[in-house]
Formats: sequence, C-alpha cells, structure tokens
Amino acid sequence: MAQTLTYSPEVAAATHATYELVRDVIPEVEWPVHAPYVALINELKVRRNAIILAHNYQTPEIYHGVADYTGDSLGLAQKASETDADIIVLCGVHFMAETAKIINPEKTVLIPDLGAGCSLAASITGQDVRLLKQRYPGVPVVTYINTSADVKAESDVCCTSANAVRIVEALGVDRVIFLPDNYLGKYVAEQTDVEVILWEGTCEVHERFTGAELRGYRKATPDIQIIAHPECPPDVLEEADFVGSTSGMIGYVDRERPSRVVMITECSMSDNVAVEFPDVDFVRPCNLCPHMKTITLPKILASLEELKFEVEVDPAVREGALRSVARMLEYSA
Ligand code: 13P
Ligand code: SF4
Repeated sequence: MAQTLTYSPEVAAATHATYELVRDVIPEVEWPVHAPYVALINELKVRRNAIILAHNYQTPEIYHGVADYTGDSLGLAQKASETDADIIVLCGVHFMAETAKIINPEKTVLIPDLGAGCSLAASITGQDVRLLKQRYPGVPVVTYINTSADVKAESDVCCTSANAVRIVEALGVDRVIFLPDNYLGKYVAEQTDVEVILWEGTCEVHERFTGAELRGYRKATPDIQIIAHPECPPDVLEEADFVGSTSGMIGYVDRERPSRVVMITECSMSDNVAVEFPDVDFVRPCNLCPHMKTITLPKILASLEELKFEVEVDPAVREGALRSVARMLEYSA
C-alpha cells in the first residue's frame, strides 16, 4: 500500500487533539515522528473493521493515540469477548493475543510483534501441569492468564491479578494449585483460608522492586501513596498502601486522588495515567517490560496493512483453554 509518512498540515490537524492530551509525556520534537502513524492507523482500522486493544503498559502514543480500548488482562479478555470487529489487533504480549483468539476462533487476531513474550508464560508448560495433577490428584488448578494456551487447556479455571482471590474462593475447595506466579500466589494465600500450592514463576519486571526501595520513597516523601502490582515480591507488597491489577491501580488513583503517588509496576503506565490526572504528582521509577516495548506504531501499521502476525491456536488445545477462560469470565461477570 503506497503511503507518505510525512507530518503534513492535514496530519497535524488530524492528530492535534491527541497531542494536546499527551504533550506532558511526549516531547514536542517527537510528535512529527508519531503523528503520521497515528493518523494512518486510525484511518486503516476503520477501513478494515479492526479494533485495537491495548494493555495499560503500552507507550502513550499507542495508549492515547490509536487504542480503541485500554485495560488490564481481564478487561482485554472481556472486551475481546464482546467485540463485533472482524480483526483484533492486540497491543500487548502474546498470551493476551492468544486469549483473544481462544475466545474468538472465527476472527483474525493479530499481534504486531510475535516476539512479545512474558517471563511468567515462559516459566511453565502443559507437561508441567500434567505432572502436577498426577502429584496432587483431584486438586483444582487455577492458572494465571499469563500462560500459554497449552497450560490453560490443562487447567480448571483461569484468573488475572484483578480476580485471583475471588476465583480461588469461588471453587469452594480447601486446596488449589496456583500457577505460575509465585508472588501472586503468595499474595492470594494471604487473603484466603484456601491452601495454595505454588509454582516458581516470576515476572522479570516486578521481581526487581524491593521493600527497601519503597521505604526509601516513604522516607524521602512522607505524603506519598504507594500502590503496587501483586506480581511484586512479598516485602514490596507489605510496604504498599494498595495492591491491585493495573486497572485496579488506575481505579485507586481515580478514587483517592492522592497528591503524590508511585505506581510499583511497569513504568509506561505512570505516563499514561498521569495524562488523565494532571493534579496528581506521579513519582516514576522506570522498570520497563522489554516484551511490551516490542510493540511500536510502525509495527501496528504493518500489522494492519499486511494482516500480520496472525495468532493461531490448535483447535484441540483451544477447547480446553476456552473452558478455563470462559469459567473465569463467568465468575467475573
Ligand atoms: P494486569 O492484568 O494487572 O494488567 O497484569 C498483566 C501483566 O502482565 C502485569 O505484568
Ligand atoms: Fe510478563 Fe512481567 Fe512483562 Fe507483565 S510485565 S508481560 S508479567 S514479563
């Protein structure tokens, strides 16, 4: 498809409102680079009847510039189950696109970069789950959505950071196997009387935070509110004023309107949220997820133009994976 990626007066006019929104987090000198992509992607997605679902960790030019919906893993799965678009472009990591495909086998689901993985999803295989089920016969398997379709297919139900405690309790049993995030599992175990059997997976981004670092923020800025993602280590969560999913953290800022806040999670999110709450001062330590950052505007444009990279799920695996995802969506409705 022939196209000119220049910052023409037409492009400037079409993207002016978006730039006014993000001007505090994207330097003016960078906008002429992003703007032609923003304008073209927004045109093309309408022509293709495509929807762009973006995770909260996407960069501001994606989150505010081209996404039709932004949210946490649960929100993305829920939106994927509701859309009537023909094409879903998932700006996030592979397990998120795979979940959208599990829910929508008849739709084209695209991810702009096939290398967008996740250390949690890489920490466990379907074979590992089969072995665990042999070791703990009859104990239900609750699987974090940050896993492959193979792992979901071997599980009884999925969960996300937004609903993990609720899902574990909804099963009405004394004991569950919780996979694969060890820290999220420990956090869940603290919130419930259900015994939780854990796996050793961790998120390479959240495991880098430390309790000492958080105490340092509190000492330097006593009025600061500290809000953390449950993939963080236990000593970090102990120091936090609030623990929740990425959208849960945004909801907290919206409700509480703290004068100063630090979000202990991937750092693009603070930029995205700061745009929406100009009166809140965001302290922004930077821990980037290298997988989330593989998604860029040029790759989203190429994805829509060439319908790449299509995410497929083996129908035999999909059946079991859908059961686990659908059960989670029912419990979360
Ligand atoms: P959320 O579901 O809370 O957005 O978390 C997804 C994720 O990958 C966090 O690292
Ligand atoms: Fe996976 Fe961690 Fe990146 Fe989230 S932040 S996608 S859990 S590696």
